[in-house]
Amino acid sequence: MEPIGMDTDSEKRFAKSVALGVTGSIAAYKAADLTSRLVKAGLDTHVIMTESATRLVCPQTFLTLSRNRVTTSLWDVPDWRPEHIALADQADVLLIAPATANIIAKLAYGVADDALSTFALSFAGTVMIAPAMNPRMWRHPAVQRNCDVLRDRGARILTPSPGRVACGDETGPGRLAPVEAVFNAVQARLAVEAAGAVADSPKRVLVTAGPTREFLDPARYLTNRSSGKMGYALAEAAVAAGHDVILVSGPVDLEPPIGARVIHVTTAAEMTAAVRAEFAAADTLFMSGAVADYRPAAVATEKLKKRPGPLRLDMERTVDILISLEDQTREHTVVGFAAETDHVEEYAKEKLTRKHLDWIVANDISRSDIGFGTDENEVTLHGRNGQTVELPRAPKIEIAAQLLAATLDPGLSQK
Ligand code: CTP
Repeated sequence: MEPIGMDTDSEKRFAKSVALGVTGSIAAYKAADLTSRLVKAGLDTHVIMTESATRLVCPQTFLTLSRNRVTTSLWDVPDWRPEHIALADQADVLLIAPATANIIAKLAYGVADDALSTFALSFAGTVMIAPAMNPRMWRHPAVQRNCDVLRDRGARILTPSPGRVACGDETGPGRLAPVEAVFNAVQARLAVEAAGAVADSPKRVLVTAGPTREFLDPARYLTNRSSGKMGYALAEAAVAAGHDVILVSGPVDLEPPIGARVIHVTTAAEMTAAVRAEFAAADTLFMSGAVADYRPAAVATEKLKKRPGPLRLDMERTVDILISLEDQTREHTVVGFAAETDHVEEYAKEKLTRKHLDWIVANDISRSDIGFGTDENEVTLHGRNGQTVELPRAPKIEIAAQLLAATLDPGLSQK
């Protein structure tokens, strides 16, 4: 096959480079969306397709979206150096999405009989694999064993989701993980590698995220503006760093990290119960959830009817989760968050002491460009021994990776 496309000066424009392997699963069309997201995020994306993949999606699609040559054969040799060797030196991550049972087996056994498998053998960087196949094939012990071999070698398997697959009525796991979740996993891995947050020894990391809802009646509740993005970024970064992650999530509209155990809660009381149940077995708590401080003293069982004149609500205090944990063992690293509109440093440091935290992340929410609902943040981390780490404005996933590096680094550890 002739080489498709032409070289660009993309290496000069991009900080990080992703090699995206696309194989012959019907989910190959989703790799086009993935390519578009990777490119929009500023990642230099080089697509390598297997022969079967080219029967499902036209290489021109990936050429146009990635603006880079698409490798479809070992015999695309535009230069003195074979394409796969040049790319292997340049790429930071090899992502195979979708990955068939066939490519998983080839990688496990070191078979190199086409451009993608040959590239994979010559690549020494981070490997991420998003399988997509019939659920019966996914469950097959041969496939599971090959995935274990790859995991042992350091690859991350982005496990497929349950749901209907194209080839039949089976509904077990087999569908490609959501494109957004695959993209988030790649971005998080690059962020933790850049921050030096990859785990030497995996920890059990408990993260809370999002708002809580306190009901007035069956139709109405009081809540706050938390989007959950910072907490989800922390959970995503912790999974990418190799930790075992439990995410206690209030109601948010975000894709959970692949591989995290997610406990969905709605009210402050439910968040309290979930955190208290999980805390003992955890090593670290990132308490980024925006827990309501008050709730209606009584919840009406029927919808409240309007009456003339103002409405006065009787509110009662909720449990302060961090303070309620003081009766449990304090071997943990506990990180609190202070979202403030004024006196940011003063209030944050007061909470660090009052709540007996190891670290507090201070966040100025009076600014519209960072914090609530936005994709970027700028925070200051204060440690209980007086350490201060300023994290300048950056995407929340990068802030999350740096928070992980700073709080879990034994060099900075305070216990
Ligand atoms: N927090 C908690 N339980 C609550 C309220 C807050 O564990 N009921 C945690 C938050 O998750 C956060 C930290 O405490 O990590 C600080 O939360 P914040 O709302 O800023 O502080 P408050 O204690 O509510 O203090 P204030 O109302 O004075 O701002």
